[in-house]
Amino acid sequence: MKRIPLSTLILTAIVIVLAAGLIGTLFFLRSQPPPQRGFTPLVEVAPMEPDSSVWGVNYPNQYSTFLLTAQNDTQTKYGGSKLISKLEQDPRLLTLFAGMAFSKEYNEDRGHMLSLQDVQETARVNETTPGTCYSCKSSSNPRLWAEMGPEAFYETKFFDLGNRVTTPIGCANCHEANTMRLIVTNPALQQALEAQGKDWQTATRQEMRSLVCANCHVEYYFKGEGKHLTFPWSNGTGIEDIVTYYAEIGFADWKYPDAGTPMVKIQHPEYEMYTADSTHFRAGVACADCHMPYTRDGAAKFSTHDVKSPLLRAETACGACHTDVTYVTDRVKRIQDQVHETLIATEDAIIAAINAIKAAAADPNADTTVLDEARALHREAQLRWDFVAAENSMGFHNPAEALRILARATDQARQAQLKAIQASPQALLARAQP
Ligand code: HEC
Ligand code: HEC
Ligand code: HEC
Ligand code: HEC
Repeated sequence: MKRIPLSTLILTAIVIVLAAGLIGTLFFLRSQPPPQRGFTPLVEVAPMEPDSSVWGVNYPNQYSTFLLTAQNDTQTKYGGSKLISKLEQDPRLLTLFAGMAFSKEYNEDRGHMLSLQDVQETARVNETTPGTCYSCKSSSNPRLWAEMGPEAFYETKFFDLGNRVTTPIGCANCHEANTMRLIVTNPALQQALEAQGKDWQTATRQEMRSLVCANCHVEYYFKGEGKHLTFPWSNGTGIEDIVTYYAEIGFADWKYPDAGTPMVKIQHPEYEMYTADSTHFRAGVACADCHMPYTRDGAAKFSTHDVKSPLLRAETACGACHTDVTYVTDRVKRIQDQVHETLIATEDAIIAAINAIKAAAADPNADTTVLDEARALHREAQLRWDFVAAENSMGFHNPAEALRILARATDQARQAQLKAIQASPQALLARAQP
């Protein structure tokens, strides 16, 4: 039998000792608690806790920056956080929204901490307003939806629900307690995604950094007698999908006075506009990249929760990706000016259509079939225009899409005007008299 050399025996012994040591170390590491980044949470937060100050004990940087949203008061050319009236800025809106609540009051949006105060003080709510209006305004909601069910929440009158909705937007609108992962909290978003066969639970972290904003920054309507909060997304989230959706269900928010057009008021479709193939969306950029950029406080690096216009902190908001911040902010100005100029031209076209339709509607001999065609065009033109007007970035989120939509809206408005004239040439002649 051949003898095993001494050197081999020694080597084998060394290998065995090393392996045993490694296994021991691995066992030790496995039995340790999972690593905590920075610190251990100080308090356990109850599920759906409405009070953000409780969460704030664990996350003071996020909480203190979040509180700043109550004080922001700086205006930018087309945005910012100052309480200014859109109706005073552009009196055309009084005509465009005649006969409905937005012609009474329509203000610039402000910070998240002011959401509850602003909705409770608006002249647009009254005794008949449903509780649904609180859906995007408060961190009390997730728990209320769980306790009373969304249906009862929507059906309760706004003034009655006010006793239970006591906090502005807060941590519970975007985060799961303790795990702090981003979640869908609005049942209407959950339903809208399901209707499209989508499951947010499988979304990537980067997708959630935009999707969490879609809890609120979207177009919606109140469905049926129960005033059920619904996103018109079952055909998709593009403007054409939404136009088709409202046509299919024959929905109208109000009837335009004297013209008789059944109208749709668009809310704030930031998510839909941004995700309609914008350059940034295509490049994988999320809402939070621009609106909640990483910030440093000493050694701590965190997402600022002082959500506001990125133009007020372009160095951090844009500078993370763009080296020439002056160049890109100048691009924002130009894009917004171009979209604004086009938007005003569209408004003039829609107002011309409204006047022509009103005149034709007052004519007992008007051709009602052609007049209805004019109304259908007016409805669509204004819905499209409002998709850009109610979106809060003055086109920046998706410049090409905003201009495409406005071009179509202007064309439809002028077609509506021509149809109205065709329906009643007499009305036009009468109006031309001095
Ligand atoms: C590439 C950067 C960028 C991304 C991504 C982005 N935004 Fe913006 N957003 C802006 C800029 C720039 C403005 C214009 C601000 C102004 O006019 O003061 C703006 C304006 C807004 C406003 C109005 C702000 C104000 O001061 O009135 C809201 C609300 C908003 N964005 C929400 C969103 C949401 C929701 C998303 C994702 C769906 C998103 N944004 C994605 C850059 C971005
Ligand atoms: C409007 C939605 C929203 C609200 C409200 C909100 N957060 Fe966040 N939060 C985010 C987003 C988006 C991120 C980025 C998450 C990521 O990158 O995965 C984030 C990240 C965090 C993180 C991870 C670390 C970091 O800074 O990136 C913590 C902790 C956190 N938030 C705490 C809070 C606390 C505490 C509150 C309430 C005071 C709060 N958040 C309110 C959207 C929100
Ligand atoms: C729970 C609903 C809700 C969620 C979630 C939400 N927002 Fe808002 N957001 C609002 C409301 C409501 C306002 C207007 C508040 C007001 O005018 O009083 C607003 C205002 C804003 C403004 C304007 C702030 C200003 O100072 O003018 C920006 C920008 C904004 N949100 C961006 C975002 C982004 C980005 C996200 C996702 C990270 C997000 N929001 C998530 C409801 C929400
Ligand atoms: C997370 C990265 C990121 C952030 C943050 C970001 N951008 Fe961009 N931006 C991009 C990418 C990627 C492109 C695509 C073109 C490219 O590669 O330069 C782009 C393109 C642009 C363009 C050209 C758009 C076009 O349609 O061709 C402008 C203008 C712009 N960004 C402005 C801004 C402004 C203003 C901000 C801050 C409010 C900002 N960006 C924040 C990544 C970012």
